[in-house]
Amino acid sequence: MKIAPSILSADFSQLKKAIIEISEIGVDYVHLDIMDGHFVPNITFGPGVVKSLRPYTTLPFDVHLMIANPDMFIREFVEAGADIITVHVEACPHLHRTLQLIKSFGKKCGVVLNPHTSIESVKNILSLCDFVLVMSVNPGFGGQTFIDLSLDKIKELKKLRDTFSYNYLIEVDGGINQITSKLCKEAGADILVAGSYIFNSEDKLQRVKALK
Ligand code: DX5
Ligand code: ZN
Repeated sequence: MKIAPSILSADFSQLKKAIIEISEIGVDYVHLDIMDGHFVPNITFGPGVVKSLRPYTTLPFDVHLMIANPDMFIREFVEAGADIITVHVEACPHLHRTLQLIKSFGKKCGVVLNPHTSIESVKNILSLCDFVLVMSVNPGFGGQTFIDLSLDKIKELKKLRDTFSYNYLIEVDGGINQITSKLCKEAGADILVAGSYIFNSEDKLQRVKALK
């Protein structure tokens, strides 16, 4: 199981320290939650902060855009050091174009599904995706409770990948802890995003091990 700590739950006055700390405990990505107070009811940080953190780790930056009109900012996040950019289907009226735009910069692309959004809505573009991110909470905040119906979505995505030989990795985001991680693993997840579970602990290494 690959682990992507979300720095949303880190101390924002100590982000550099947080990035260095998680780089030393065997995780696979850094998950960066970008919120605009428009697509989601919260605001986090933008490309300037991403760029300032880039020198402090070699881990891939997994940039989760929870913003309206993501096409407008993709170049900026690429220049800030994003390796993976995921966009919400709910925010992209021209999703195929958006994914092509991310790929045109040589970056990995992914699509994100809110809890209410069905796989049906992205079926036609699954062959383009390097990642499919299943939201297991409603986006906007850390520390929420895992929504169980996400498990069926993970299972269905795995089945579709097997049937059509797609290449995407299945990532799950929200409410991940030592219990829900097991459920996601059984359902077929490849990557778990974890914010509060990792950052609200002094022993982050133990927490990462518990998720794997
Ligand atoms: C929620 C974000 C998540 C969040 C997860 O909108 O996309 O990445 O940080 O936080 P936890 O792990 O606390 O649910
Ligand atoms: Zn996220």
